[in-house]
Amino acid sequence: MKKEDFDLFADIVKKRSGIALTPEKAYLLESRLMPVARKLNLKDLEELAHMVRDKRDEKTLESITQAMTTNETFFFRDQKPFDQFRTVVLPYILKTRATQKTFRIWSAAASSGQEAYSLAMLLLEEGAKFTGWKVEILGTDLSTDMVERARLGIYNQFEVQRGLPITMLVKYFQQNGDKWQLHEKVRSMVQYKPLNLLQDWGGLGKFDVIFCRNVLIYFDMPTKTKLFERFAGALHPDGGLFLGGAETVLGATDCFKGLEGHHGIYLPIACPAGAWKAA
Ligand SMILES: C[S@@+](CC[C@H](N)C(=O)[O-])C[C@H]1O[C@@H](n2cnc3c(N)ncnc32)[C@H](O)[C@@H]1O
Repeated sequence: MKKEDFDLFADIVKKRSGIALTPEKAYLLESRLMPVARKLNLKDLEELAHMVRDKRDEKTLESITQAMTTNETFFFRDQKPFDQFRTVVLPYILKTRATQKTFRIWSAAASSGQEAYSLAMLLLEEGAKFTGWKVEILGTDLSTDMVERARLGIYNQFEVQRGLPITMLVKYFQQNGDKWQLHEKVRSMVQYKPLNLLQDWGGLGKFDVIFCRNVLIYFDMPTKTKLFERFAGALHPDGGLFLGGAETVLGATDCFKGLEGHHGIYLPIACPAGAWKAA
């Protein structure tokens, strides 16, 4: 690929999604953008670059951006955050929100939905403890294809064999041919909608917990810094942020501090002492 074509595509993707592509990722650009070119009846990426320079058609720019997202995810990914959610977050929320009985969770790069649905299943496993509560789980993603998939809650055999305990498969899914669909009871607990983290979040309100895992790794430092500030503003003072195993706030922001003894969980700097430990 010509350098000027790489720069053109990388610039579009960076401006529209925050995903930073270095020249070593040219192979990724080629393999992911070829289907976009073919759909437009173009021969190769040089023709796609021409077309983009000529027209800057919004739909094409969006297709290029969405094609460059990495949507890898699976149920109970990394396990530990979900254990922490069950043993640290839930007891704290049950205790501190006992009067208002509200609990709001945001899966901020939800991909095909497994993260948010894992949290929903954990809540159902709590039995009657949340009866009478208003529990909201919001799943958002830049990719409209992923949001559509997440809403359906349909997964193939490979996907339900990654991370999902067999007992939960039996309990919460219905088999249709070679696919498995989550029961309506689980699906109705999560609301999915498209949302670009770089753009206005438009009155999402405050959350008790934000999961933003395995997306910040694709962003440069200034983008991460801005996002951490915005996440801090979107959390209750004693809310918490879960990051992916390869992600940290260190060196990017002073808005959060790590929760002692719990790698991957970050609390707003103004968080009252003892929060998330008081259960
Ligand atoms: C690797 S997946 C992570 C899914 C899940 N959080 C997990 O850890 O398994 C990253 C997701 O981030 C989404 N994404 C990338 N840039 C985004 C942006 N600017 N705004 C919202 N979502 C974005 C991608 O579409 C993709 O589905």
